[in-house]
Amino acid sequence: MSPGTTSLSEAQIAQFQTQGYLALNSLVALEEIARMRTMYDGLFETKAGRDVGDHFDLAGADEEGAPAVLQQILNPSRYAPAFGELACVQSALRIATQLLGPETEAQGNHAILKPAGMGVATPWHQDEAYWEPELQYNALSVWIPLQDATLENGCMHFIPGSHRGEVLPHHPINHDPRVHGLEVDNAPDESRAVACPLPAGGATFHLARTFHYAGENKTDQPRRAYIMMFGTPPQPGNKGRRFPWLEARQTARDARADQFAKQ
Ligand code: NI
Repeated sequence: MSPGTTSLSEAQIAQFQTQGYLALNSLVALEEIARMRTMYDGLFETKAGRDVGDHFDLAGADEEGAPAVLQQILNPSRYAPAFGELACVQSALRIATQLLGPETEAQGNHAILKPAGMGVATPWHQDEAYWEPELQYNALSVWIPLQDATLENGCMHFIPGSHRGEVLPHHPINHDPRVHGLEVDNAPDESRAVACPLPAGGATFHLARTFHYAGENKTDQPRRAYIMMFGTPPQPGNKGRRFPWLEARQTARDARADQFAKQ
């Protein structure tokens, strides 16, 4: 078994601080990737968490029975607790702690599936645009493909240095308030983008404000990605900040979550 990376060099830490992202070719042992794939496929086959709003189509109106072009499950570890016990969770936590500081903790996970032949692109966005606007974040996401990630199946792309700016205005994909997924209003200059193809077992780390994008899946195989979030506890530091794109959103996912909360 190939032991994955569990600590970063000074040069890697400096690179992350300058660029806002870092790609590692080896974080997860291949045996663990195989176990994750089995659990992952089981969750999507059963649409785990759909009744509580945790399974939905990130890029479509998410109507019952419609083919989902960008399926997401929030908190897969709630439905398959073994996700929380993986060795790569501890490896990623150690690395995230090196990058964000000693208070760093796990802050959730999600899964994004781009089905074979029909998985659409994840448009340019900043993750912080999805979060509570009045809080201040010191957080990153770890993106783990469960097969090779290539230009053809939708690997990640980043804009180096974009983590230093503010959160820019976003809107729901296709300007459809029924869509959960967000897209920045003015796409960054793509000539500055860096594509990060990865072998299975690799991962990318990116900060809350780093602009990123993942292409469509043009292959005849699903593109599976598992994402873990880590951060120090969010602080009340952005009082009065508003994200109008969240206030206007009316998704079927939110309706299912609200319905469940009322039961
Ligand atoms: Ni993102």
